[in-house]
Amino acid sequence: MAKQKLFFICQDCGYESTGWLGKCPSCNQWNTFVEEVLEPTYKKNNGEVFLSNVKPININDIQIESEDRYMTGMKEMDRVLGGGVVKGSLILVGGDPGIGKSTLILQICDKIKVNSKIIYISGEESIKQIKIRADRLSVKSTNLLMVSETNFKVVQALSQKEKPDLIIVDSIQTMFNEELSAAPGSVSQVRDITAGLMRIAKSMNIAIIIVGHVTKEGSIAGPRVLEHMVDTVLYFEGERHLSYRVLRAVKNRFGSTNEIGIFEMKDIGLVEVENPSVIMISGRPENVPGSVVVSSLEGTRPMLIEIQALVCPTSFGMPRRMATGVDYNRITLLMAVLEKRVGMQLHNFDAYVNVVGGLKVDEPACDLGIIMAIASSFRNVSVDVNTVLIGEVGLTGEVRAVNQVEKRVMEAMRTGFKNCIIPLRNMEVIKTMKEINNINVKGVENVQEALSIIL
Ligand SMILES: Nc1ncnc2c1ncn2[C@@H]1O[C@H](COP(=O)(O)OP(=O)(O)OP(=O)(O)O)[C@@H](O)[C@H]1O
Ligand SMILES: [Mg+2]
Repeated sequence: MAKQKLFFICQDCGYESTGWLGKCPSCNQWNTFVEEVLEPTYKKNNGEVFLSNVKPININDIQIESEDRYMTGMKEMDRVLGGGVVKGSLILVGGDPGIGKSTLILQICDKIKVNSKIIYISGEESIKQIKIRADRLSVKSTNLLMVSETNFKVVQALSQKEKPDLIIVDSIQTMFNEELSAAPGSVSQVRDITAGLMRIAKSMNIAIIIVGHVTKEGSIAGPRVLEHMVDTVLYFEGERHLSYRVLRAVKNRFGSTNEIGIFEMKDIGLVEVENPSVIMISGRPENVPGSVVVSSLEGTRPMLIEIQALVCPTSFGMPRRMATGVDYNRITLLMAVLEKRVGMQLHNFDAYVNVVGGLKVDEPACDLGIIMAIASSFRNVSVDVNTVLIGEVGLTGEVRAVNQVEKRVMEAMRTGFKNCIIPLRNMEVIKTMKEINNINVKGVENVQEALSIIL
């Protein structure tokens, strides 16, 4: 009998070690090593390789069907996927517990236009529990088959027998391969089953959606190893106390990763939000210092987002800086620009910056908005409620041009804003556009100029 191999695996990134380590040398996380036993299951074939089934094909001779995607019937989902579910692809949907992953997937099963059937394998809930949810979401699909199963071998046999178009595995952490002695949810199990699902997807041209839970640290439980194995990684995020949910592509072999989809969780299920700008800025305080609106581009879609800042005298030796939804380092950098270029004495003030609605912005085009929110709170002067700010701020205090400025300005105009401050370099594009007429657009060269207009 082959000798059992005993080793320790980092549950966060999958790093393997022969001995236990307190800190992972690969991802620098503490206390993530867990002992696992792996029995070698592969057989040796004396080094012989059979080439009878392998035949290289000229790239020009490869035939593809014209329709190689299934539209999910949910516009937001299709956009994030880059135009529907690609046949034979493996998609991972990750998210915090209870965020609504199963709800989203079940709704997709109802609306997606597949040719034959969908198999929904649930390892977490009984089929009766899912039926209760399906009734609540009014799922009426006639080609949806439910299976409550955790054994991967059964899943494999089932997919060969039924030959569905789409398989849902909810969740990957509950599945196990009996050939491995490690517990379900461990790195070796999750990795093995994902590789198995990948084989099913590619060999039988079946699209597979895997649901994965996210750990406290924010990576998909244990296995970040999973992310590079699958074709597409989507994260379903949101604030627990808010009803809005954001679907974000982190990796996509068949589309852009900049797109986001926005949903609202209601008792009838997830409802697509067609016009997120209106929702993101609704309930905005008027004439209050520290609140500004920026026009951010999420993939191909412009979105108006409210940014708030609070600057107050510090009671400690070291001033506090806090950033929610924006990069912390960006905040310190922009505050340094305000100190040096504008002369605002911020060194003995605490500063808190927050993106409203639980969104995350990582676009440089939001810099001008962030800097103005901080300055507005510092001077205790409010920014006009009808003004949108667009622009990247450089270290010398210059306002740099941003991409696709016309889309951003159009979104502000459509939502009813009257003024827009943009980088001076972008003004030429705006001047040539006849569609932009109901909004007063002003170009600024640097932060001082923007401040003199706004505050
Ligand atoms: N009747 C209801 N009305 C409104 N929202 C509901 C209702 N029932 C459930 N929800 C929402 O659905 C969420 C659970 O959805 P779902 O089970 O799809 O999440 P999940 O991410 O699959 O969870 P898990 O991690 O347990 O698998 C709840 O947190 C709640 O927000
Ligand atoms: Mg679930």
